[in-house]
Amino acid sequence: MKMYQQAVEQYLETLAMLQNAGDAPVTEAVERDPMENLPPQPLRSAMRYSLLLPGKRIRPTLLLAAYHLVKEDWESVLPFACALEMIHTYSLIHDDLPAMDDDELRRGQPTNHRVYGENMAILAGDGLLNMAYETMLGAPFTQAHPAEAVSAMREIAHRAGVCGMIAGQTLDVKLEGCEPSRESVRYIHLHKTADLLTAPITAGLMLAGATEEQIEAGRVYGRGIGLAFQIVDDLLDIEGDAALLGKQTGMDAQRGKMTWPAVCGVEQARKDAQAAVDDAVSAMRLFGRKGEKLSDLARKTLVRKM
Ligand code: IPE
Ligand code: IPE
Ligand code: MG
Ligand code: MG
Ligand code: MG
Repeated sequence: MKMYQQAVEQYLETLAMLQNAGDAPVTEAVERDPMENLPPQPLRSAMRYSLLLPGKRIRPTLLLAAYHLVKEDWESVLPFACALEMIHTYSLIHDDLPAMDDDELRRGQPTNHRVYGENMAILAGDGLLNMAYETMLGAPFTQAHPAEAVSAMREIAHRAGVCGMIAGQTLDVKLEGCEPSRESVRYIHLHKTADLLTAPITAGLMLAGATEEQIEAGRVYGRGIGLAFQIVDDLLDIEGDAALLGKQTGMDAQRGKMTWPAVCGVEQARKDAQAAVDDAVSAMRLFGRKGEKLSDLARKTLVRKM
């Protein structure tokens, strides 16, 4: 898994569109050759800031590992893996905005809007979302395997979109302060988090030309790891270490968020996270020994501290 993470880190750092601009003034863009295709300042720095801060890179890792279950040349789908990290980072920047969760710390540093202001944070999120699709559409892989690339991009757009992550975020903010309910929290977690953890698996398998049976196993795995991941995120907000997490704790209760432990208590939440991981691990059996890496990753989400 380290090998995927390193490749992702390197790809992100060398993105031409986000090359370091230092503190160039905003007017620099006016003087530049329009063919250079560089976002103006301070937008470019704002996008670069959040994307390159140390995240766990779990979504791109999942895409590369899922592709690698079926095909060997996993490096050819790095643009898709990194596009998922761009979409995820955009979701974090917007999630932290004062109008959403109003958080001050992310990935161990001040949140995007705290550094660049709300207007740039909104635009940096918009920018990363669009850059994700530009990156996937322009990938050499897409030229070589258009049918597989289109299915994967459609899957990603759907799960990141208004019936996926954005749907979950909608209920997350609209149900703040409401009576906790099992059905509602399940909907929120499946969409705001599990969809964005399932997309890399199913899209990775689609890119590799996997069978429908394999893709279905990927869906079950994604739902399991995704649910567990968000239940554990809720638990860490209660009992985690802010210094390790790189974000503030205790915020969910303060905002009246509908979290898993708010609905059923900490003990039951732990059991439910374990059960979700068991489902993910069972789904990987279809891939035999090759599935073990992803099974291990699912188990690790239960004991993560960051
Ligand atoms: C945070 O995601 C948002 C949730 C869905 C809980 P991660 O915990 O993957 O955050 P990074 O990418 O490592 O910062
Ligand atoms: C975030 O859920 C989910 C998305 C960003 C889509 P949270 O609001 O619980 O994530 P953190 O705790 O801020 O990372
Ligand atoms: Mg949130
Ligand atoms: Mg949040
Ligand atoms: Mg949280």
